[in-house]
Amino acid sequence: MKKIVVLTGAGMSAESGISTFRDSGGLWEQYRIEDVATPEAFSRNPQLVLDFYNMRRRELLKASPNKGHAGLAEMQDEYDISIITQNVDNLHEKAGSRRVLHLHGELMKARSSVNPDLIIDIDPENPEIKLGDKAPDGSQMRPHIVWFGEAVPMMYEAEREVGKAEVLVVIGTSLNVYPAAGLVHYAPAGIPVYLIDPQEVAVHRQGVHFIKKGASEGVAELRKLLKEII
Ligand code: OAD
Repeated sequence: MKKIVVLTGAGMSAESGISTFRDSGGLWEQYRIEDVATPEAFSRNPQLVLDFYNMRRRELLKASPNKGHAGLAEMQDEYDISIITQNVDNLHEKAGSRRVLHLHGELMKARSSVNPDLIIDIDPENPEIKLGDKAPDGSQMRPHIVWFGEAVPMMYEAEREVGKAEVLVVIGTSLNVYPAAGLVHYAPAGIPVYLIDPQEVAVHRQGVHFIKKGASEGVAELRKLLKEII
């Protein structure tokens, strides 16, 4: 089976009703990164940060995978598919994708604020993290999210995975945030690269095939195009 590595961002889940970050009306127009998505923000005003992610979690619990997520899951029958996502939602998994690496953490998990390896599943029936909720080590629980300025622990694994790709697919990311955006450069030279996004995205790599569509239609078109080359 051909190894296809799929790199996804917020646009992958847009058709599921999850807000993107940098589109007009996106989250970073309504909130400042410095206020809700850095370790300093959590030290300064933990309530605001917890509220922001509690809201994201409530939004996620109302959402379902879209046809794009479902299409990628169906492709597992034909290809060796590995997904590397910047998304903190669990919609790839809900659609049935088996290999999903989360670069920026997971909304449905919490962790100790002193030990990044002490991670706890959040009960969807009780999805809020509250000030005073303690991890087993006694520290305040925090969202299991990689904030700006923090290390990206899964990066090495992601680089290795992209390095083994025979086809690379990029879906719904503005490629603004590093180190994730740099992953496209770890793909072996000369392999086919497809980029699905309704907007232009600047990607500094030769021979990228642009599919200027949303995730659902874009994945359907990708599947047709792959049948022609594989
Ligand atoms: P962005 O909001 O920066 O980019 C979203 C991309 O999705 C844009 O290129 C849109 O054109 C595209 N898009 C919009 N609707 C779409 C659709 N229906 N189908 C496909 N694409 C669509 O989101 P990311 O690149 O994922 O990190 O952002 C990267 C990181 O920045 C996030 O993981 C998050 C954020 O700050 C952290 O919070 C650590």
